[in-house]
Amino acid sequence: MNIQWYPGHMTKAKRAMKEDMKLIDLVIELVDARVPFSSRNPDIDELAAGKARMVLLNKSDLADEAKNNRWAEAFESRNIHVVKIDARNKGTLKQVQSVVQEACKEKIERDRRRGILNRPIRTMVVGIPNVGKSTFINSFAGKACAKTGNKPGVTKGNQWIRLNKTLELLDTPGILWPRFEDQQVGVNLALIGSINDQILNKDELACELICFLERAYPQVLTERFGLEEEREAATSIREAAAVLEQIAKSRACLMKGGELDIARAAALLLDDFRAGKLGRITLEEAKDYEDKVK
Ligand code: G4P
Repeated sequence: MNIQWYPGHMTKAKRAMKEDMKLIDLVIELVDARVPFSSRNPDIDELAAGKARMVLLNKSDLADEAKNNRWAEAFESRNIHVVKIDARNKGTLKQVQSVVQEACKEKIERDRRRGILNRPIRTMVVGIPNVGKSTFINSFAGKACAKTGNKPGVTKGNQWIRLNKTLELLDTPGILWPRFEDQQVGVNLALIGSINDQILNKDELACELICFLERAYPQVLTERFGLEEEREAATSIREAAAVLEQIAKSRACLMKGGELDIARAAALLLDDFRAGKLGRITLEEAKDYEDKVK
């Protein structure tokens, strides 16, 4: 599958973000726990150089818990503090505040040595679109409501949300852009619904998902769609297309003349996956990305 998508305004946004970074002590980067590699922009390392760093594995409610833990370890081994969250659920955010303090220990210590006491930590939330930045800011900031909407970069005249005596949050999230020189990254972002569906071939995408599930979560499709227990697992797109036909049959996806409506079955499968109805599924395993996540 060939996905081409690159927003041209991103060079400008990157410059603006670099400027804003000067004001920041701590960068809180949200990634999607189902695709922690694909949902990052590798430029963040350069953009956030010298800053305290935190990664929030967001949408961890939709991801495989064992794999969440492996990813948390992988980031921690790079000295990046990690919290697994569901940005919609305030209960899961309780840990964030204490990890912020932990991540900024050196800065707090440096301030203290210079006689600066109680200067709030200034932080910025960054991530690619749809990863949950606005939801997180709204939940984390509580009543001090954050603006929603997806303006790339951060506008001049920064607004700060004062969360408490020790923490201030830039009210506008820093929008990073997805990068997919690697086609698999494009496929993974499409699967989680972070790329406009209109530019995709949904049937093919559904077949990619089927191939992945057959390999990594072998019982999921059989159970969800009541497929034959003894069937051969699909290992190619062609075989996956046959499984998609079976899904269309099992869900009675039919067109007017009684022909199978494969497009509807594909949309249904993708929607089920995105809504977590196939269970908690992670598309990328930390161990496969050791050499790519420096
Ligand atoms: P963004 O600012 O980074 O672009 O993302 P945003 O907060 O708008 O969130 C994108 C979608 O992801 C929203 O759903 C939001 O509810 C959902 N979401 C955010 N965090 C989590 C999480 O931890 N777990 C789950 N399961 N979903 C999360 P939406 O359908 O686009 O909008 P809505 O109808 O929920 O408002």
